[in-house]
Amino acid sequence: MAAEVKQTCYEGSCVQSFQFYLEHSGEHQAIVQFAHDILPGELKRIGAGKSSLDVLGVGSGGGQVDVQMLTLLQSAFPSVPVTADIVEGSGPLTDGFKALIAKTPNLQKIPFSFHIMKSEEYETQVKAKGDAKKFDFIHMIQMIYYVEDLAGSIKFFHSLLKANGRLMIIVEAANGGWDILWKTYAKELCTGAITDYRSSAQVVECVKSLGLKYEEHVISHSFDISECFSPSSDTGARLLNFMTAQENFQQSFSPEVRAGILELLKNKCSVQKDDKILFNGSLVAILIHA
Ligand SMILES: C[S@@+](CC[C@H](N)C(=O)[O-])C[C@H]1O[C@@H](n2cnc3c(N)ncnc32)[C@H](O)[C@@H]1O
Repeated sequence: MAAEVKQTCYEGSCVQSFQFYLEHSGEHQAIVQFAHDILPGELKRIGAGKSSLDVLGVGSGGGQVDVQMLTLLQSAFPSVPVTADIVEGSGPLTDGFKALIAKTPNLQKIPFSFHIMKSEEYETQVKAKGDAKKFDFIHMIQMIYYVEDLAGSIKFFHSLLKANGRLMIIVEAANGGWDILWKTYAKELCTGAITDYRSSAQVVECVKSLGLKYEEHVISHSFDISECFSPSSDTGARLLNFMTAQENFQQSFSPEVRAGILELLKNKCSVQKDDKILFNGSLVAILIHA
């Protein structure tokens, strides 16, 4: 019997759920703020003395963060030509990315190559072709949970870096709200696209075991999950669906598991402030040197 292919790229209701989460959580704003604070210096180091700059986004989704980072790169090196390659398996999210490019004037100068496929397939194609395109800056933002082979993927994308390049992996923080939720309820939650939950602890451990040089930056972030505790709230229900990666949180788990998850979310993954329950959604950016 053929092995079942694990669907990790966002399609169907998953796309709406993710978009709802982004609108509600402010996660992109936190990542973009980090990019504005930390990346200009990094990009200056990466691009120093280069006559062209090549960027690879892996699992870029709708490209909202990519667009900001490419704009920062253009500002750091206004006269250096930039290219962008994107490896993303979701058709609907890639369509959104293309629409965003079309309405962003400064990006018209950048040639984009979209590889609409999983990172594993890209790796197979590149290895079969033999003459891999190399990059100055490669990023994998909130997608490393989905790759089949963590060490193999990091090793492969690291091998595509040019001199002075950086591979940036942004992932949920060790001991943050996501880590506590997904590790505590691993048996119930790790049953779909994510079968082995990874936070920054596992990624850093892997980077170290590969002997790579890296730096870590914490991206502090929290968002209001108070509505998750109102049984009649549509916002709460949709947030719970995304946070537990289910189509329907209510129908997916027994009353005991639901109650346990809610209790954990409130008491271990969040802080209470001004009558609000603020979930610790902090992330970590791991910048790996070429
Ligand atoms: C949580 S979203 C993050 C999207 C984007 N980086 C952001 O921060 O908005 C995860 C993305 O990874 C993509 N993805 C999942 N598995 C993938 C794989 N094996 N190769 C490439 N992309 C993948 C999904 O389709 C989705 O767009």
